This record gives sequence, C-alpha cells and structure tokens, in this order.
Amino acid sequence: MTHAPVLKVENLQTRFKSVQRGKFVHAVDDVSIELYPGEIVGLVGESGCGKSTLGRTIVGLEKASSGRVLLDGVDLSGLSGAALRDSRRALQYVFQDPYSSLNDRQTVGEAIDEALVIAGTRSPEERDRRTKELLDQVGLASAVRDRHTRELSGGQRQRVAIARSLAVNPRVLICDEPVSALDLSIRAQVMNLFLRLQKDLGVACLFIAHDLALVRQAASRVYVMYLGKIVEHGPSQELYDHPGHPYSQMLLASAPEVDPRVEKLRKGPLMIGEVPSPTNPPSGCRFRTRCPLAVDDCAKAIPPSHGLSPGHSAACIFARDLHRGKRSALLQPEASVA
Ligand SMILES: Nc1ncnc2c1ncn2[C@@H]1O[C@H](COP(=O)(O)OP(=O)(O)O)[C@@H](O)[C@H]1O
Ligand SMILES: [Mg+2]
Repeated sequence: MTHAPVLKVENLQTRFKSVQRGKFVHAVDDVSIELYPGEIVGLVGESGCGKSTLGRTIVGLEKASSGRVLLDGVDLSGLSGAALRDSRRALQYVFQDPYSSLNDRQTVGEAIDEALVIAGTRSPEERDRRTKELLDQVGLASAVRDRHTRELSGGQRQRVAIARSLAVNPRVLICDEPVSALDLSIRAQVMNLFLRLQKDLGVACLFIAHDLALVRQAASRVYVMYLGKIVEHGPSQELYDHPGHPYSQMLLASAPEVDPRVEKLRKGPLMIGEVPSPTNPPSGCRFRTRCPLAVDDCAKAIPPSHGLSPGHSAACIFARDLHRGKRSALLQPEASVA
C-alpha cells in the first residue's frame, strides 16, 4: 500500500494492577499495528488475549503505560484540549453489547441527536437532516426514529449504536465483537453494513472477533493476538491458507467449519489448555506452554517476527516451516474432503 496509515499503534503497552500485590496484568504488551484508510482489519484471538484492552487503549478508554497511538501521523499523547478532543472523535468504539451501550429511556431520534450535539452540530435543522441521513446509512427505516431503543431488536439496537458512532464522522471504528451478541440470522446483515460503511464512507475498521469465518469474509488483513502480543499478521486469505504461527494454525483449525462435511471429520477440539495468566506470562514465547512444537529455545527469548510473504509475518522460530507446510502444530491430520 502506498498511502499513509490513518492509524498507527507503536509498541503499545497497557497493564493493570493485579490482585496479586505488586504485580501487573500485562494485558497488551508491545503491540504495533497499522490501519489504512477504508480498510477492514481483523483482530482475532481467544478470550482474555487482550483484544478489548488494545481497542480500548487506542480510543483512550484505557491509559497506555507506554507506546504511541498516531492518527494521521500525529501522536495523540502530544495533544490536549480541543485538538485531543477532535482526534478522539475520529476514533470511535462500537461495543459488543447493544443492550448496555444505549439509554433505554431515549427514542432512537434522541439517541442520535444526542451524539450529534456531542459532535458539536449546533443547528437543530442540521441535526434533523443528519439524523435522517445516519438512519439511512445504517439501514434503519425513518419510522423507527420515534421508537424507544428498548423496543428494538438486538440488530436494530446495534445499528443505532453504529449510527451514533458515525455522527462524529470518524476516520476509524474499533468494532469490539459487534455482532457476537446478535442472533445468528442477523449477524450477516450487520456485517454487510460494516462492509458498506467501509465502501461508502471510507471508514477504516479494526474488527475484533473470535469468529474467524466472519473475519475471513470481511477483513482484507488480520492480526492474531495471543496473551497480549501480536503473534502473526498478514493478508486474510494468505494467513488463513498458510498460517506461520502454531497458535494461528490451531485457532483456525479449531474454528467451527462452515462445511458440514469437514465438520463431521473433526475428531475433537484441537486447541488444548487455556490462556495462561497475563500476570505471570511464560518467559520467551508466550504460546510455548501450549505449543506442541515447543523446544528449549522457545523459553529463552521472545521470538522475532519472520517475514513470510509480502505483508505477512509471524513470531515463531518455525514460522517459515509452518508457512511452507513442512511442519504442523496440529495434533491430528487435517481433515480432508473427498
Ligand atoms: N480493568 C482491568 N483490570 C484488571 N485486569 C483487566 C482489566 N481489563 C482487562 N483485564 C485483564 O486483561 C486481560 C485481557 O482482557 P481483554 O482485553 O478483555 O481480552 P479479550 O478482549 O481478548 O477477551 C484479561 O486477563 C483480563 O482479565
Ligand atoms: Mg473482549
């Protein structure tokens, strides 16, 4: 890509005080990512890997302990007052739960109007026009404007929440599992909405999900996160077809398969064990305690990132072998379809 990233995250670290005295929860540890204008990028990993904390730190809902967040090349930590407010507005967060992110006492129109007021749209006529436009953009009929948000379905509520985020004309949306609380039947519709927003408005979207099939479909690139670190990133198709990190390989192999013929051949869960505590992460490679390929060296140092193909790299000493299919972290042979 030749143009400049709209969002650049450099060596970001977010830690929380642990319940264990004097210790810290290293939720996000030295993460660097980039988002280009109008791009949908996936962020995947098991629960507890730090995806939400990373998203929340980017938009300023959590404080980074170190590292930088740059919007259009400008470091947000160097800003204050109106400049910081404007930059923060350009970064919006869409929450997983459309039930807790809206005020039940408001009508849809009031909820969107409020967001426009916060965005500084003074003229009531202009807010009225924008409310209509936003309802249209998120695919809601103008008739829902006078309904209370509590009367809406989950999918409709999520659309209202998205309309509120769009009220400020953001450059980047951080979407934190925005469809996982929704019924299966309406997930695809809300996903299509994100695809359309990206096309129509050019909003860049960091799409956090544990549903890998969704990400594969929507995202052009993917970051895989494990225990506070990005272990692999690359173009979706390439990463899904040729993962270079054992964690990605196992995560992909244990994702529910869309094809029932493949699903039937699966013998059991491929992902063994649980994510260790980010308060006492393993030395060296953080995945080594669950990795079937781990050797002594994996405990000694954090593995550097190996470039595998354009834009694709993975932080594993065996990344090149995995990528070429010469080695596999899977405990059972890959299911094949006749
Ligand atoms: N406010 C907090 N205080 C202490 N620990 C937290 C806090 N928020 C998140 N964590 C911990 O940080 C880790 C990452 O959490 P989270 O970012 O929610 O992961 P994910 O979104 O990938 O499931 C978890 O171990 C979680 O318990
Ligand atoms: Mg989360």
